[in-house]
This record gives sequence, C-alpha cells and structure tokens, in this order.
Amino acid sequence: MKVLSLVGARPQIIKEAVLHRRFKEKGIKEVLVHSGQHYDYNMSDVFFEILQIRKPDYNLNVGSGTHGEMTGKIMIEFEKVLLKERPDLVLVYGDTNTTLARALVSAKLKIPVAHVEAGIRQKPKDMPEEINRVVTDHVSQILFCPSELAVENLRKEGITEGVYFTGDVMYDLFLKMKPLFRYDLFRTLGLKENGYIVCTIHRDFNTDVPERLREILEQLRRLSKRYEVVFPVHPRTAKRIREFGLAELLNEILVIEPADYLNMMGLIEKSRFVITDSGGLQKEAYWCGKRAIVVMPDTGWRELVEAGWNVLSEPDEITEKSEYIDNHVSLPENVYGEGNASEKLAEVILQL
Ligand code: UD1
Repeated sequence: MKVLSLVGARPQIIKEAVLHRRFKEKGIKEVLVHSGQHYDYNMSDVFFEILQIRKPDYNLNVGSGTHGEMTGKIMIEFEKVLLKERPDLVLVYGDTNTTLARALVSAKLKIPVAHVEAGIRQKPKDMPEEINRVVTDHVSQILFCPSELAVENLRKEGITEGVYFTGDVMYDLFLKMKPLFRYDLFRTLGLKENGYIVCTIHRDFNTDVPERLREILEQLRRLSKRYEVVFPVHPRTAKRIREFGLAELLNEILVIEPADYLNMMGLIEKSRFVITDSGGLQKEAYWCGKRAIVVMPDTGWRELVEAGWNVLSEPDEITEKSEYIDNHVSLPENVYGEGNASEKLAEVILQL
C-alpha cells in the first residue's frame, strides 16, 4: 500500500504530524508532497521542526496568488508527481485550495482519494473553504469524518459509501503533544494565568471587508481595558490591516507573529478564553478546557456551540458575548472522539 499525502497550509501540516507516525508504525509507505501554499517560516517550516515531521519528498513551491492561480498551479505540478509515483491512494486533509486541487487531479487520473475531515459543512456557502470541502467530498472514495454530524451531513448529500466515523486526528495530536506544550511566549509576554485572551482572525469574510475588520479590532481594543489581548497575526490579516490603515487600533494589544503549535497550545491553556475564526482553534480551546467566541456566522464545529461551550458572534457583539463566555459551564465530553482517529484511519487504509 503506497499512500501519497498532501500538505500545503498550516492546519494540514499539523494533521500530517499524527498520521505520518501512524503510517510508519503500520508499515504503510507514504510519499509526502508540500504544495508550498504556506511558505513563511512561521506558517510552515516551524511546524515541521517542532512536530518532527520528515522533509517532504516533493515541494511544488506554488506560493500565493488568486484562488484560480493557486489551484491551477498546484494541479499542473501535482499531476506530474502523481504520474511518476502512481500511489494506491491519495490522502487529502481539510478544506484548503491545496486540498481541492489535489483531489481533482487524483480523481481525474482515477486514483482513489481519501478525505480526512470529510463532511464538515458551514455557511456562508460561498466561502472558499466551504467550496473546497464540498467538491473534495464529492470526488473522494473514502471519507474520514471527525464527528457524527459530519457523517449525517454527507448522508444528506447522498454520500453513504466509504464513509467512516474516526473522530478528529487533531485530538490525537493534542493528546500526544500535551506533555510538550511550551510556555516561552507566555513568559516572555509577561502574562498572568487566566488574565488574558488569545485572538486569531484570518477568514476572508472577516479580513477582506474593511468595516468588519475595523469592528473586530475596535472590539479587541475595548476588551484590552479588562484583559491583556494576545493577537498572533496571520499574514493575510497583517496585510489587510496595513492596506486599510487600521494599525493604530492595535496600540493596546499584544501583537505577535503566528505562534508555533507547542507555544500556541501553551498560550491557550493558560488563557481566560479565546476569540477566533479558525476551525482548529475552536476545538483546541475546548480540549484545553477553554471556551471560545467564534467570529463567524456559522461553524463546521457546531457540536461545541450546541453544547453551550462555544458561542458564535458577529464582530459588533464580541464584547457582549465575552460577558457570557466568561462564566463556568460544564465541559462536554469527547465531542470529537477519543483520540484514536489515526489508528482507526490506518486500519481502514490497510484493509483497502
Ligand atoms: C488557508 C486556508 C484555510 C486555513 C488557513 C490556515 C484556503 C482557501 N484557506 O487560509 O482553510 O484555515 O490557511 O492558516 O486554502 N501568506 C503569507 N505567507 C504564508 C501564507 C500566506 O504571506 O506563508 C499570505 C499571502 O499574502 C496569501 C494570504 O496570506 O495570499 C492568504 O493565504 P492563503 O493560503 O490564500 O489562505 P489563508 O488565509 O492562509
């Protein structure tokens, strides 16, 4: 069994960290391809180093561009790799442009595609990640779902074959890495346990509309009168803040570069709560026992909202929602499986 795994953006590199170890253990041969969608040290290399992932066998170095350019470039370069390697299975992760481009090329070459994190659905339907997810699910033969809701979402779209509920591989990684979480940033920023909020924002609907981004930053400034606000800024967001002339709104905020996984988890673990539009961070906050204000009209990780743990928010409601979130509620249990998703996934692959 030869599997070709694809990474490109930060959240995929994190998922690869769990799976590559599991594949090695089970004797599954893996070829690793990086698209180069994320190329900054802080967005890519640092995760390979800290999570001890081996160097990719191929790097397509596509970099940034419009959605069409990026998807097209990955497709052209990836097809060459596929024709050379001829794997038995192509494994794609998540919802990025890298995921979509590779799923399409593989499906057209009639090489089976397995989608890790299949079945997640969220509004607005026109957000790039949602388009990527839906199309990828519909051209995949094997669909590994992180939640029961994801299985149900696929069923509603008529996809019932090759669907497996595995739980979330990011939980496997979280449990494995927990003893290694780092507190360097927590210390160098001079933070106090429970005395600060961690915020990340990078979705296009939040960053690319000037009024929306301004409102988010104004709300953070308001909150910074009560707590320290730590804001690791994604490159897309940094670019927009400069373009829209909003930098002065950050004066009271602890702005830092995107943090590596171990330090980011360390920061969340000691925080009061989290404000985010990242899919991964909504769950990681929960695994750390922290609640999150999710700055989105909807979330693919709806279970945590329905359990009353996380809360959705429009930009102008953030301060108000922070009153609500700053209370104790009981932690819902094992919402995304038991931390053995990679084991279940490898078992399925071995039986193909
Ligand atoms: C991508 C994924 C998103 C995922 C996120 C995690 C898509 C459509 N979205 O969003 O699902 O949650 O990654 O971070 O694939 N940039 C840099 N350096 C980098 C990477 C990006 O400067 O290393 C800048 C570029 O200007 C680029 C912009 O950020 O144009 C956006 O990057 P892109 O990869 O398009 O999407 P993300 O917002 O990172």
